[in-house]
Amino acid sequence: MIILKSRDEIDRMRVPCRIVAEILYGLRALVKPGVTTFELDLFAANEARKRGAKCAFRGYHNYPSSLCCSPNEQVVHGIPNKSALKSGDIISMDFGVLVDGYYGDSAITVPVGEISAAANMLITVTEESLYAAIDAAQSGNRLGDVSFAVQSYVENRGFSVVRDFVGHGIGKSLHEDPQIPNYGLPSKGVKLKPGMVLAIEPMINEKSHEVRVLDDNWTVVTCDGGLSAHFEHTVAITEHGPEILTRI
Ligand code: MF3
Ligand code: CO
Repeated sequence: MIILKSRDEIDRMRVPCRIVAEILYGLRALVKPGVTTFELDLFAANEARKRGAKCAFRGYHNYPSSLCCSPNEQVVHGIPNKSALKSGDIISMDFGVLVDGYYGDSAITVPVGEISAAANMLITVTEESLYAAIDAAQSGNRLGDVSFAVQSYVENRGFSVVRDFVGHGIGKSLHEDPQIPNYGLPSKGVKLKPGMVLAIEPMINEKSHEVRVLDDNWTVVTCDGGLSAHFEHTVAITEHGPEILTRI
């Protein structure tokens, strides 16, 4: 069941969403060769605490950290550790918080030092596919229009869409209906209505779309070792169009 949010609830969701955006903005500046994902996790946790926000992922199905850090061939749900990032890596950071009963959720992928042209293209296309999806998230359109926007944008540029993980509705729970696949058919699926709040999150691979979960039961990696990128925004559907709540 899709839970519609009132104007007042959307206003309340701005608070966790803005905090997530600010903290990801800070994390982006911290990413450089030599930093560990453990340090990034600590920064996110401290910044959330300062703002009175609860980290949404820590403890969620026993996830052990505040931030998801997924370098290179890791797709999502990478667990922060003490190994240092190095120039040429890419790193996806996914963060969510809870404030006053409402969640915000967003993710970015950023370069570490100097990266290859291919890695840079993957990051650019993944971010642009998120904006294509958001453009399609108009009241009266259907969920399939959003999914298809990502898939067509990405596949036309030679990359592939991860199928085993999806975006989601968000509000008083981190994950609400509907599920939002990053592939699909235009004009199919539920009709988008004002009051829906969606976490749209393309996960895009350089090579094959196939992924698997490591023995830690969290870290999702590409099967072929190719790079993967991830961007996510929490977006409110309004009568005046989509509104990105996690925009800085
Ligand atoms: N943004 C991710 C999601 O919406 C983060 C979940 S990580 C978890 O699913 F640890 F909380 F599972
Ligand atoms: Co999410």
